[in-house]
Amino acid sequence: MARFGILTSGGDCPGLNAVIRGAVLKGETVYGHSYLGFKDGWRGLVEGDVIPLDRAVVRGLSHEGGTILGTSRFGPYTEPQGGPENIKKVLDDLRVDGVIAIGGEGTASAAKRLYGDGINIVGVPKTIDNDLGATDYTFGFDTAVSIATEAIDRLRTTGNSHMRCMVLEVMGRHAGWIALHSGIAGGAHAILIPEQPESLDQICAWVTSVRARGRAPMVVVAEGFKLPDMGAAHSTKGLDGFNRPRLGGIGEVLAPLIEERTGIETRATVLGHIQRGGSPTGFDRVLATRMGMAVSDLVADRGWGEMVALRGTNIVRVDFEEALANHKVVPQEQYQEIRVIFG
Ligand code: F6P
Repeated sequence: MARFGILTSGGDCPGLNAVIRGAVLKGETVYGHSYLGFKDGWRGLVEGDVIPLDRAVVRGLSHEGGTILGTSRFGPYTEPQGGPENIKKVLDDLRVDGVIAIGGEGTASAAKRLYGDGINIVGVPKTIDNDLGATDYTFGFDTAVSIATEAIDRLRTTGNSHMRCMVLEVMGRHAGWIALHSGIAGGAHAILIPEQPESLDQICAWVTSVRARGRAPMVVVAEGFKLPDMGAAHSTKGLDGFNRPRLGGIGEVLAPLIEERTGIETRATVLGHIQRGGSPTGFDRVLATRMGMAVSDLVADRGWGEMVALRGTNIVRVDFEEALANHKVVPQEQYQEIRVIFG
């Protein structure tokens, strides 16, 4: 009987457990496969640290946030015992025929390299940022958007009561999808994303015109947005190699600048990891379950070097090469479409 191992790597994301459940249930029921889970992403794989995964373990999991397997941002080549030779030995010892890696861009790049080094591995795309070019949507994104939308709705009533400008910072280091979608859904007066520079003068002009109409301005800003006049001066490299704000998030940088320039009292809220925690939405549960079931088909077909993706309404297969070719950012036209009604 074939046996496969599942790992979740990179930042957690609502829907990971639904993928695991979908894969195990279909794998067991339709193919008679068995599964185990590697703990804490690549660490569990290189150290052979596993937990059993079967129907009983995954029962009722689709609504649960986080990942029952744990996750980390370490890579399979950077772990002390990492590298393909050791991983092959771990897989042989555990009698595992192939690995399912659920993760974002970093995970897919590591999986592609391992595949090139002879490891049987497939992928499932994951990120709340929705910036993977291979797939139209990633699970977790809809949940993040709905949490950010609710935050806008709540900030609006307190903003209106005090006639303050409210600035909400949402996640999105390199792509502004969460800001764009939640900002549209919540009726924000300005949406600021990493793909599109906007000057402080322009932002303040929008804020002032909203206030002049007797409304409390609402600004949604993605964490990766930078004021063109400030450059990268307020960011620093974190231990994981990613840029992190030096003075607080961009929302906290922006709010006092808006207040100073416009004379309108302004408050910042940084939504942070609340966007990643808790139960997935119905949409994300369905997408994640479908991806999990599709990846059990993929390993049954020994489709090593490929990952599952959503194209339109269909779950398809793409190879790692293609999956990594495109980083999906918000296109200019899509931003301009909504920008005309800012202010
Ligand atoms: O890539 C997903 C993401 O949630 C980003 O939107 C965010 O910048 C980052 O992860 C946060 O990472 P961490 O949890 O490691 O601070």
